[in-house]
Formats: sequence, structure tokens, C-alpha cells
Amino acid sequence: MTIKLGVNIDHVATLREARKEKEPDPLLAAEICEQAGADSIIAHLREDRRHINDTDVKRLRKTVKTRFNLEMSIDQKIIDIALKIKPDQATLVPERRREITTEGGLDVVRQFNRVSQVVEILQKWNIKVNLFIDPAKEQIDQVKKMHVHCIELHTGSYSKAQSHLKIKKELDKLQRMTRYARNLGLVVNAGHGLNYENVTAISKIPGMEELNIGHSIVSRAVWIGLENAVREMINLIKKS
Ligand code: PXP
Repeated sequence: MTIKLGVNIDHVATLREARKEKEPDPLLAAEICEQAGADSIIAHLREDRRHINDTDVKRLRKTVKTRFNLEMSIDQKIIDIALKIKPDQATLVPERRREITTEGGLDVVRQFNRVSQVVEILQKWNIKVNLFIDPAKEQIDQVKKMHVHCIELHTGSYSKAQSHLKIKKELDKLQRMTRYARNLGLVVNAGHGLNYENVTAISKIPGMEELNIGHSIVSRAVWIGLENAVREMINLIKKS
């Protein structure tokens, strides 16, 4: 089974917002990623709208042909927008105003009641829910209790690991947690900090369904173009 690739296009909008101009347009980026073979398009509508904005998600909803995965916090205002947009999938993530990027997974142990509520609302509107969590048994167990079928394991610690020993430790953990979640009947995705160097080992994890990658692909696109950057990543995933 080939692992799927979801491309996060937030940083195309980051570049646009650097000048508050119209380009580069994330919509065009989504089209190119799909042409290059991406299996889904991800955009994070942050509460501070630092990159993707409300108009972007409306337009993406209309034009994405594969699967539109809206990354979002559990803030009520964002949930209201998601219910209007009705993405194919909603990935619930933690969000802190001053963070540079999503730090850590959503703590579904501590926030069990609130996350369950949000899950129920989204599922009632036929939006598939994906929960972005740390690779830990206690987190996975709570997801199972919420009747959510899909998780995304946070690969931040793996991508930040420097020594061989630490990399191996993080990989082992991701592999064990993937197996654990799969045995509970969950679909397992992973993402955060994955790039052209560290993606191969993750792609070898049995049972992994989809990798969600943004920053490294958009960065590579500066040198070789977005279509080539996506194709290169797909080839690396396929080869492993
Ligand atoms: N998956 C989730 C849930 C994320 O929050 C992010 C970052 O927006 C990504 C994947 C992509 O991470 P990166 O940009 O580091 O590839």
C-alpha cells in the first residue's frame, strides 16, 4: 500500500501576507499540488489569520478536487466557519497565539470533554475528523473513546532529533504507536517537520496511511518549482 501525501499550502499564503498582495495565490498552489499527485490539500485557518484567510478556505472548498483537509483549533469562531465551509476533513490541532508553528499535539486527555463536543458537532455535519496528537498510548485511548477514526501523529520530536540514538528512539515510538492505533482500528497519519531527508524512515512504518507535509515542500519549491517539489516528495515516499 502506498502512503498518501497531503500537502499543506499555508506557507504559500505566508509569502503573500509578507506583502499583503494577491500573489502567490494558495488556490493555484493547491491546483499544482493536485496535478503533481498530492492526495489531499491542507490549509490551517489560524485564529490570527497569519497566512490562510477566510476567503482562501471558501475558495479552496470550491476548487480542491482531491480532499480538502482544514486544519483548525477548537475555538468556537473557527468551528462556526468550518461548519459553513464543510471541508472533507477537519484536523483538530492546539493553537497558541505566539507560537511559530503548531507545538505538540492536541491534549485529548486533558481536554477530553471539549474535544468530544467539537468532534460530535463536526461529525453531525458529515465532516471527517482527524485528531493531531502526540504519539502516546493515553492520547490514542481517548481518541478511541471519542469514536474518531483517524489520527495524525505529531512527528515534531522525531524531526528535531539530532543523534542517531534519539532518532531511533523517536522512530521506534512512532512505529509502536502506529501499530497500537491500527490494532484499535484507527487510520494513522503523521506530520510536522517532515522533509526530504527524514521522510524515508517514516514512510517505512507499516500501517501509515498519509503524511502531511508543508514547510519543506514550499521551501523546495523556491528552487525547483512546486510541481517538481511535490513529485520529488511523492517519489521518496514511494521508493521506501
Ligand atoms: N500536520 C499538522 C497537524 C500541522 O499542524 C502541520 C503544520 O501546520 C503540518 C502537518 C505540516 O508541518 P510542516 O509544515 O512542518 O511540514
